[in-house]
Amino acid sequence: MKFLTLFIFLITLFNCDCEVLNLPAHLKIGVATSSYQIEGGWDANGKGESIWDRYTHIKPSLIIDNSTGDVACDSYNKWRTDIEMVKHLGVDFYRFSLSWPRILPSGFSNTINPDGVRYYNDIINELIKNRIEPLVTLYHWDLPQPLQDIGGFPNPILADYFQDYAKVAFELFGDRVKRWITFNEPPSICVESFEDANTTAAKAPGFQSHGIGCYLCGKTLLMAHAKTYHLYDKMFRPQQEGKIGISVNSPWYEPQTDSIDDKIAAERAIQMNYGWWVHPILSTTGGYPPLMQERIDALSKAQNFSRSRLPPLSEKEKRIIKGTADFLGLNHYSSTYVTSGITPPKNPPSFKEDVGVNIRYGGSATGFRKLLNWIKEMYKNPLIYVTENGVADKGSALNDTNRITFLRNYMVQLLKAIEDGVNVERYTIWSLMDNMEWSLGYTIKMGLYHVDFSDPGRTRTAKSSVEFVRNITKNRRIVY
Ligand code: NOJ
Repeated sequence: MKFLTLFIFLITLFNCDCEVLNLPAHLKIGVATSSYQIEGGWDANGKGESIWDRYTHIKPSLIIDNSTGDVACDSYNKWRTDIEMVKHLGVDFYRFSLSWPRILPSGFSNTINPDGVRYYNDIINELIKNRIEPLVTLYHWDLPQPLQDIGGFPNPILADYFQDYAKVAFELFGDRVKRWITFNEPPSICVESFEDANTTAAKAPGFQSHGIGCYLCGKTLLMAHAKTYHLYDKMFRPQQEGKIGISVNSPWYEPQTDSIDDKIAAERAIQMNYGWWVHPILSTTGGYPPLMQERIDALSKAQNFSRSRLPPLSEKEKRIIKGTADFLGLNHYSSTYVTSGITPPKNPPSFKEDVGVNIRYGGSATGFRKLLNWIKEMYKNPLIYVTENGVADKGSALNDTNRITFLRNYMVQLLKAIEDGVNVERYTIWSLMDNMEWSLGYTIKMGLYHVDFSDPGRTRTAKSSVEFVRNITKNRRIVY
């Protein structure tokens, strides 16, 4: 049978004008989801309220189709089916997130919800039984509401509460979970949640905080991440022997033209969106990227703020944050073209004006390779996990040729980047199945599996891309 497959493969290759790239042995392939987007069971069996429960319930008009994640894909009940789907794909790992309020209903670690613990234990055990590695995100945006009631992430105390929650998770699951992500997409948590009120671009809790809240939130996140890293490193790693990192939104910014202005603008866009998180953790100096620091300091002054909107990081804080990632998680979806934008001092200021660029969408997969090489040069070739990459459907629900083309193109560029010497060990497809896409509700579909949301049973059906992925995981090569 093996010979027949090889024979057919060789004949196909001979007759086509195509190239083949083999997956290096160290590269693991996985698929991803997140708790709020798939679980449902929003108040089931002791789960506490999250900020997304509150937000979708009190501001339905800010979700494009007025929907909620109350039921979502009903993975709270259908998790076994989900794992069968993951298994069918033949992937090495499954990235999913823990719902903080399902484990700690009030957010605080004094009360643990046994049903929440059972739910994740079941999932983890079933994955391991099927030889699928769990890659667990601690925070994918569903903050317990009581912690928002005390200010949410702009309040620095959240760093400690996050660390307490992480400790519970390490204690409960760390004997089996060996890969942890602290935060998924810090800018999504801090910018869209605290600077985009009353728009459909907003994320829960949907505030506007004068160009300050996003940076306060950012500092808390960096501290929460770092404290959790140190906790794991000292208390858990010696027995559990795992790795812990962070996943950052990682678009590539391409200068629109060769002009020096556009090049500077692209560098600024990278530093202020991306360097904000990665520079403090991975650069040799630590701290915010100097370009970001100088710019926000200067703008704050021009806007008559009595102090910079960017909260300072003390030398001690810089030391605490520096070096706290065993791997760097990248969520990459697109590249964009950048030109310099005009940034007159404005009140209230917005993060977009701070960055001061105009963005035009339309990049291609080659930007992914550029991004990976940029990181390699900038941060001394860190270990990278691509923790998300994917695309929304265009056209027919089940025959998702658009997704196949997208994934093929991006994986080819990934393999080329690995040939360039970039240190990538994992590639994760977003998403296992169609799900609740935050303020876009169920209007866009990013799954390998289609989910029928009009059906109370939430039937899942494989799209064409499932076979494409199965082929790659089985043969470990891409023909393009
Ligand atoms: C990034 C987020 O982590 C995920 O929750 C979201 O669904 C995808 N991007 C697609 O927008």
